[in-house]
Amino acid sequence: MEQKTFYISTPIYYATAKPHIGSLYSTLLADVIARWKKQHQRSVYFLTGTDEHGNKVATQAQAAGMQPKDFVDQHIPEYKKMWHSYRIEYSHFIRTTDKIHIQTVQAIVNKLLAQGDIYEGLYHGWYCTPCETFVTQSHQETGTETIVCPSCNRTTELLEEKSYFFAVSKYQTKLQEWYKDNPHWIIPHERAHEIISFLEQPLHDLSISRANVTWGIPFPLDPKQTLYVWIEALCNYITALEYNQSTNTFAHNGWPADIHVMGKDIIRFHGIYWPILLMALNLPLPQNLLVHGWIKVGGQKMSKSLGNAIDPEHLLNHYDPDIIRYALIRYVPVNQDSEFSYELINRVYESDLANDLGNLLQRLIILAHSNQYNQVNPTAAWSVDSIVLQQKAEAAAHQIELLWNDYQLHLVYATLWTYIKDINSYFHAMAPWQQIKTNRKEFEETISATCHAIAFIAWYLLPLMPHISSQILHAIGFSTETIEATIALLRQGIWQSHFELHQIPILFPKQITHKDKIMKQQDTTTVPDNQYATLENLAHCRIVVGTIIACVPVLKSEKLFELTVNCGTFGNRKILTNIRQYYDAQALIEQQALFMLNLKPRSLMGTVSEGMILCASNENSKPILIQPITNVPSGTLIQ
Ligand code: MSP
Repeated sequence: MEQKTFYISTPIYYATAKPHIGSLYSTLLADVIARWKKQHQRSVYFLTGTDEHGNKVATQAQAAGMQPKDFVDQHIPEYKKMWHSYRIEYSHFIRTTDKIHIQTVQAIVNKLLAQGDIYEGLYHGWYCTPCETFVTQSHQETGTETIVCPSCNRTTELLEEKSYFFAVSKYQTKLQEWYKDNPHWIIPHERAHEIISFLEQPLHDLSISRANVTWGIPFPLDPKQTLYVWIEALCNYITALEYNQSTNTFAHNGWPADIHVMGKDIIRFHGIYWPILLMALNLPLPQNLLVHGWIKVGGQKMSKSLGNAIDPEHLLNHYDPDIIRYALIRYVPVNQDSEFSYELINRVYESDLANDLGNLLQRLIILAHSNQYNQVNPTAAWSVDSIVLQQKAEAAAHQIELLWNDYQLHLVYATLWTYIKDINSYFHAMAPWQQIKTNRKEFEETISATCHAIAFIAWYLLPLMPHISSQILHAIGFSTETIEATIALLRQGIWQSHFELHQIPILFPKQITHKDKIMKQQDTTTVPDNQYATLENLAHCRIVVGTIIACVPVLKSEKLFELTVNCGTFGNRKILTNIRQYYDAQALIEQQALFMLNLKPRSLMGTVSEGMILCASNENSKPILIQPITNVPSGTLIQ
């Protein structure tokens, strides 16, 4: 039998402003999941869109001196452009002002009226206009007659008016049973507690029409009333599929939805009123609700008024969208609130992406290329180290699949990164730049095993970083279409693939960060032209690649090492350096680094230093040796 279309949705966003990082996060989660399913040959329907009716929109339109429809229209291209820029591949963009949505919602209301689930009544209660919701009495401020809205803390007003009610109380027991039978319906399931305890109180029938809101879907048969915005908004998930209420069928495949993605603030609407509406329509409920936390900045929820919002459009001026996709999905845990910042992206860029992933690929390709090994063949019998690398891949794959079942994407990618670090350790321990000098077969095995491991990670990265993983695949001779068969083999423990290596541009070039930019500006304004270095200055510095052949602590000092450095034609040099607190003497032996040889010899602690080691260092951080990407003959000049 044909498999059901995998249907995933985002919330529909208020079309009152352009998307912010919170809406980007909800949409990205859905996109990564949708891509993962497509990668597994599922047909996917991915719905997103905008919520366009209600007082909030009308008030903002009025303030802007615009008609509500013109007001919302202007924001739609912003959403579509942003999603496109972030490589989000949705199937359909629904707007609640779409004719089909309005007609279907009215037909649904007629059906519920006819079956007695909607009835006319009189509503009196405290209404919060900004949140468009009636507030219950328990939120009364102590000692006053004022009722404060629990969500926005603003004062509400007492309303009494004719209204139509949705008989949710009729379905309370059925919904409670649903939660008992489906304890994992809400992911993460801890989030269900709020709903389950809310359901322990008697549910009041819900007023679903408004007499004083004109910007909304007219209530059928009573055009003075419009529909409560939340009720029609929820219906978007079925109106998009062109639901037909008389036959209870859909023009498009997909229902029941597999996942509705949403933030924790809108769980009550999705966890109570939406399933009841579906029960009343005699439709199956969605498979899961995936509920994420808030993104915070500086410990606070982001908001325009606090001026701490991160603008996703601005981020795109600095980073490739794949990098922001990675930082958001990997470092914002699905199941809790968390911080997000430019600093975080910069850090992640340098450590996870440039260092762990980019360098590995670059070193592999350059090393293979410089040793004329671009057609990489598998080895007949793998060494123990390579077998361990394979086993670690299999263990990671197993773990990742379990995590995917619960959509814990941050953990999926944390697990993948542990494996990337394993590949780095393997590569470093095998030291193919040494193997090539003594045993070409071993060198070829290391290159081949590393290619297999990289193919493996590129597969898991595809849904998250579609562009970057395509480049990685290209570098090892695959396309996104041809990789799947190879992955199936790797998953069975068959590491017998051939790779064709191609040189590609550096995946994660050094970024100019905000801070760098400011410093650069300062540099150019404060350094006069006549202080620029000249090529002659550079030629005057004798900087060479040397190989450390001995390293001993200087007895009278706590900080110094005495290095013996093979500088090729410049002979062996004794060089003192104060990197002792950061490095193990043994680990430095056989390492190559850069040395400045024509500094005036200097006597320290009774020893004469005949040069200086050059390190990349910032104040207070570990000095990092600067090494050629592959070993070069000792004494090679930097020029
Ligand atoms: N229109 C309703 C949803 C109706 S769905 C039938 C709505 N819109 S919204 O634009 O206010 O929010 C949409 C989504 O963005 C929600 O899932 C919300 O949780 C999410 N986020 C808004 N700000 C957020 C953060 N700061 N962090 C993470 N997500 C947050 O609600």
